[in-house]
Amino acid sequence: MKTTDILKKRRSVRRYTDKPISRDILEDIVDCGRLAPSGNNAQPWHFLVVTKKEELKFISDKVTYGKFIKDAAACVIVFCEKSNRHHLEDGAAATENMIIAAASYGIGTCWVAGYNRTYEEGIKEHFRVPENLRMISIISMGYPAEEPHKQKKNLKEVLHWESF
Ligand SMILES: Cc1cc2nc3c(=O)[nH]c(=O)nc-3n(C[C@H](O)[C@H](O)[C@H](O)COP(=O)(O)O)c2cc1C
Repeated sequence: MKTTDILKKRRSVRRYTDKPISRDILEDIVDCGRLAPSGNNAQPWHFLVVTKKEELKFISDKVTYGKFIKDAAACVIVFCEKSNRHHLEDGAAATENMIIAAASYGIGTCWVAGYNRTYEEGIKEHFRVPENLRMISIISMGYPAEEPHKQKKNLKEVLHWESF
C-alpha cells in the first residue's frame, strides 16, 4: 500500500486479537522510530518494548485512558532526554513514525498519553528508567480486532493557501 493510503486509512485501534507480534517486526517498528527527524539531529530518545502480559497489565492499571493495553500484544514506551529542549516534539515525531510503521505491517496502535501525566513516575520507577528521561508516549500495538471509522475534519476546514 502507498504510504499516503496507509496514512489516510489509519485510525487508533483499541481492540486486538491474541496474535503475538514477532520480535523482528517490533524491532523494525522501533527502527523506524529511531530514524525520525529530531531537532539538531539530537535523537534524544530511548524506546522500551513491553510484551509480557503482567507488565502490560501493570501499565494498563497505571494509565488513565488505556485499560486496553492489557490486551495488546505489546507496547512501546517512548522516553526522551529532558535536557533536550525539543524532547517533546522529537518524541512525538518518533511516536508517529512507529504508528505508521506498525500500520504498514497491518498492526493496529493507539497513542496513549504519557507526557506530564501523574503516572509517569510510577512507570519510570517500575521499569528502572533513568532519571534524566521524560516519558513522552505509550503506544499499544496488536493485530486489530476492530476497524474504527473516526470522523475527521474536512480538508477545506483546515487548509489555507498562502494566507488565512
Ligand atoms: C498526544 C495524544 C495523546 C493521546 N492519548 C490517548 C489516551 O490516553 N488514550 C486513548 O485511548 N487515546 C489517546 N490518544 C488517541 C486519540 O484519542 C486519537 O488519536 C484521536 O481520537 C483521533 O482518532 P484516530 O487516531 O483514530 O484518528 C492520544 C493521541 C494523542 C496524539
